[in-house]
Amino acid sequence: MRIRHSFLVSALAVTALIATPGAAMASPDHVTEPHEGQHAQHGDHSWATRPSLRTLSMRSGLKVGTAVNMDLYGSDAAYTRIVDQQFNTVTPENVMKWQLVEPTQGTYDWAAADRLVAGARANHQLVRGHTLVWHNQLPSWFSTDGTTTSFTPQQVRDLLHKHVVDEVSHFRGKIWQWDVVNEAFNDDGTPRQSVFYKAYEALGLNGLDYVADAFRWAHQADPHALLFYNDYNLEFTGAKSNAVYDFVKQLQAQHVPIDGVGFQGHLDTQYGFPDLQNNLQRFADLGLKVALTEVDVRTFVQPDPANPGTYTDTPLTPELQATQESYWKQTLQACLDVPQCISYTVWGVADSNSWIPGVFTGEGAALLFDDNLNPKPQYQDLRQVLWTTKAPRRA
Ligand code: XIL
Repeated sequence: MRIRHSFLVSALAVTALIATPGAAMASPDHVTEPHEGQHAQHGDHSWATRPSLRTLSMRSGLKVGTAVNMDLYGSDAAYTRIVDQQFNTVTPENVMKWQLVEPTQGTYDWAAADRLVAGARANHQLVRGHTLVWHNQLPSWFSTDGTTTSFTPQQVRDLLHKHVVDEVSHFRGKIWQWDVVNEAFNDDGTPRQSVFYKAYEALGLNGLDYVADAFRWAHQADPHALLFYNDYNLEFTGAKSNAVYDFVKQLQAQHVPIDGVGFQGHLDTQYGFPDLQNNLQRFADLGLKVALTEVDVRTFVQPDPANPGTYTDTPLTPELQATQESYWKQTLQACLDVPQCISYTVWGVADSNSWIPGVFTGEGAALLFDDNLNPKPQYQDLRQVLWTTKAPRRA
């Protein structure tokens, strides 16, 4: 009886949330969290009991997701709670990459990825599979640098075929969107000379034909998964975005089963905000779905005086913090304003588990939660945008 009652209240809360024009409300905080999936925690910080990102996302139907670090998911309670409560789609940050699923040739290890998929199912979340074909994080038996290999070109093609078919088949029916191919182009618009590209050229094919192959193989293995091409810097109009635009048009002309293009969205306050909405829209106008797949907004951070040569997760100045917030709002706004933009995924939960400090020295503070897993102003900004934007419903 109690369960029924709370379900009814929840259903009403969701309906009210969807029906109420956001502009009439100053803040989303007065609405009771509708406890999707029975995973709300009591005795939490008060922010956690207010409507989550996933609840607020129901107004538009845009899915809001995060990359998940499987070393923390399930073992760090606060981290796990945020993943389960705040998001309605998840992406494995690493555990579906070739290096992790087939560390030894012919021996698969699906354990961590299966755990992610099980967690998503328990929490009513969709899964973005990431990523089947990429020049990075390849198993060392296949290629140590992403450009060379000891296998012959024909063996490379056969191994790629086996990898794509085996992985997509393993997860058949459980993946919403697959990032089939990741980062096949350079910033100047030329194709990346990856181990795959070079093998196909050596076979007398067009170097980029591996992309069409991978999409066709993935589609055969799971006809219901949405198949995406995913890359960075597509947000800015320029050589790379234009080249990928022309390339996906060619794929469509060849009847390659591509459903969407993922814009990674790794932004940095020093480069200015991109003309993101125009770029999302022009790809969508090709009849494709689009998604923001790996959003983070990095900036310069204060050095750690206690440990010379290391950095904190505090922006250098209040102005940089303000710029970060503005970028966060604009990324979400751009996605909401393009009806074909079906998901908005942030690349990790907290600054303490972000990939940024390890790759961009002196930069950080790129995510929505701080080192103690407390929400930053950026998190409230996204809630506010979800609450106030009158966005078209997603298909
Ligand atoms: C990163 C992960 O966040 C790191 O943990 C890992 O060491 C390297 O890869 N573009 C992508 C992601 O498509 O897979 C990358 O993720 C970040 C850049």
